[in-house]
Amino acid sequence: MATVSSDLTRTAEQLIRGRHATRAFLPDPVPAETIEAVFDLAGAAPSNSNAQPWQVEVVSGAARDELAQALLAADRAGRRTLDLPHSEDIYTPVHQRRRAAFGEAVYGALGIGRDAHDLRAAYDARSLNFYDAPHVALLYAPGSGNPRLTADVGMYAQTLLLAMEAHGVASCPQGLLSFYADTVRETLGVTGGRLLFGISFGYADPAAPVNTVAVGRAPLRETTRFHH
Ligand SMILES: Cc1cc2nc3c(=O)[nH]c(=O)nc-3n(C[C@H](O)[C@H](O)[C@H](O)COP(=O)(O)O)c2cc1C
Repeated sequence: MATVSSDLTRTAEQLIRGRHATRAFLPDPVPAETIEAVFDLAGAAPSNSNAQPWQVEVVSGAARDELAQALLAADRAGRRTLDLPHSEDIYTPVHQRRRAAFGEAVYGALGIGRDAHDLRAAYDARSLNFYDAPHVALLYAPGSGNPRLTADVGMYAQTLLLAMEAHGVASCPQGLLSFYADTVRETLGVTGGRLLFGISFGYADPAAPVNTVAVGRAPLRETTRFHH
């Protein structure tokens, strides 16, 4: 059996279990060298036949502000467009229960009650401003978004989140951004591909209660069977 240093095991535990979605950011930008190092590291992600079929748009500064304005305007106009279909039907009852528990944890930390629709809508609008993060990355799968290619982009995305965590950069994957696919494409001048989600990133606001939310995970045997 290969020997593994206990330092590496501890680091992996810390990195993987220590990463959580951040939903309140400080305005401070991440230095360009750190951004470069993080995205370079993320490119080490595995993919089918090493095709590396991810297409990534990293948006900062004035371009980031312009994109947030365009998203908020699209939201106000009720202009939602998706590159890939979305339906609540994709979730089974057990998935729905986990999603509901997650929603209660986040809205609970924000002190927003189940029926406070205006407060929930205001919070959702903040998410279109990337939770105030100074940067956002948009992740595309090429062509028509074949499921095998989107799986590769998922591998890339988690590698990216861990690379960010390792560099002290907080992140929030945001599927919501994919509901404004045409707005993102037009604002950034993206041609081709299917928008899967965005990842807002920057430095976490340590004073924000929403950043203390730590949702649990299903017990191992609820998702994983071991065959012998
Ligand atoms: C593909 C994807 C899309 C997500 N979309 C959103 C989103 O639109 N808004 C949001 O606040 N969090 C979003 N999240 C974050 C999840 O809610 C979060 O990862 C999950 O609840 C587990 O919590 P943790 O990441 O803090 O451990 C998304 C995560 C993934 C992987």
